[in-house]
Order: sequence, then C-alpha cells, then structure tokens
Amino acid sequence: MKRVAILISGGGSNMVRLIEDMAGDHPARPVLVASNNPAAGGLNRATEAGIPTAAVDHRNFPKDRAGFEAALLRPLLEAEPDILCLAGFMRILTPDFVQRFAGRMLNIHPSLLPKYPGLNTHARAIAAGDAEAGCTVHEVTPELDAGPMLGQARVPILPGDDAATLAARVLVQEHRLYPAVLRRFAAGDRTPVIL
Ligand code: GAR
Repeated sequence: MKRVAILISGGGSNMVRLIEDMAGDHPARPVLVASNNPAAGGLNRATEAGIPTAAVDHRNFPKDRAGFEAALLRPLLEAEPDILCLAGFMRILTPDFVQRFAGRMLNIHPSLLPKYPGLNTHARAIAAGDAEAGCTVHEVTPELDAGPMLGQARVPILPGDDAATLAARVLVQEHRLYPAVLRRFAAGDRTPVIL
C-alpha cells in the first residue's frame, strides 16, 4: 500500500477528490495533507476526513525559500510518503526539494501543457482564441510545469467564456483526471490517462 501526502494552498477540492477515491479499493492511502497557508480551507476538509494535517506558513520565512522548505519537510518526512501530490499548491519548489521526491511527485495544472505553464492559464487560453482548454497531471521536475505528462483532459472553450466560467468547466475534469492518474501511478503504471 503506497503512502500519499498531499500539498495544498487553498480550498483543496482536488485533494478531497483524491482522498475520496483512496477510500475505496485503491493501491494507496492518504497519510498527510500539508499547506503553506494555515488558513487554507482544505485543511479543515482533510481533518473532517480524518487525515492528519500540517501547516507551515511561508510568510514566516521571508526571502528564505530553503528555510520554508526545511520546515515543510519535517512533517512530510515524518509521514514517510511514497508519493507526493501537489493539488493547488501555489509555491514554486526548489530543485533540492524536487530532487528528494524525484519520480514520485505529481502536480495538476489547469492547462493543456506544454501550453500555458505558470499562472492565469484560462485567461491566456481565451485571449489566444484557443478552441479548447483543459488540465494536465504531470510528474514534477525542477523546471516549472514541464515534467513528463501523466494525464490530460480537454474541454471546449465556449463563446462568452471568461476565466471564471472556463476554470469551473476545467475543474470538473480535474476532479476526474487526478484520481484516475493517481490510481494508475500508485499501481506502478505511468501510461498517461487521456480523458
Ligand atoms: C486547481 O484548478 C489547480 O489546477 C490549480 O489550482 C486549483 C486548485 O483548486 N493549480 C495551479 O494553478 C498550480 N499552478 P483546489 O484547491 O480546489 O484543488
């Protein structure tokens, strides 16, 4: 049984979906939800689901990314995760941190990578006149949003869409895609999930 830790920064809807899926017949189970934001709504949702949580406020480490990551690593290493899932975790991790979890850290990103790494993905897709958008789960490597693709789901961009309506349509697919990828990945299968 693989042990999964999840990093969040906000509401944690993807985290909730991962935890719900792991409650069934599954090759992994959640052992920790950690956040850089003590006010992240997802921490309460994890507690309600009976999962241990940790919060390390990045604002306590101004201009000290290494110090922040060392503090974040403490509870993480105690939880002894086999797999680390970033689920709306909005801090960039240093190459040192990423190397510690090389080949076992996943991220979900709200675009059809390699298009639109970074922020404001939905507004950029609309501004470019794209016909479709979507989400990608990928392995995390030191280069931002550039690791090997493990799954993708597409949605149409409709006339009249703004960033919020498109984000909501993509999020529905994120909630299907991430559990499907984690299930496969935890079973040792890295074949991309295409929804
Ligand atoms: C999701 O849309 C996720 O793809 C995005 O943040 C949202 C988190 O929602 N992640 C990124 O933009 C990472 N750069 P959630 O907290 O409800 O899962």
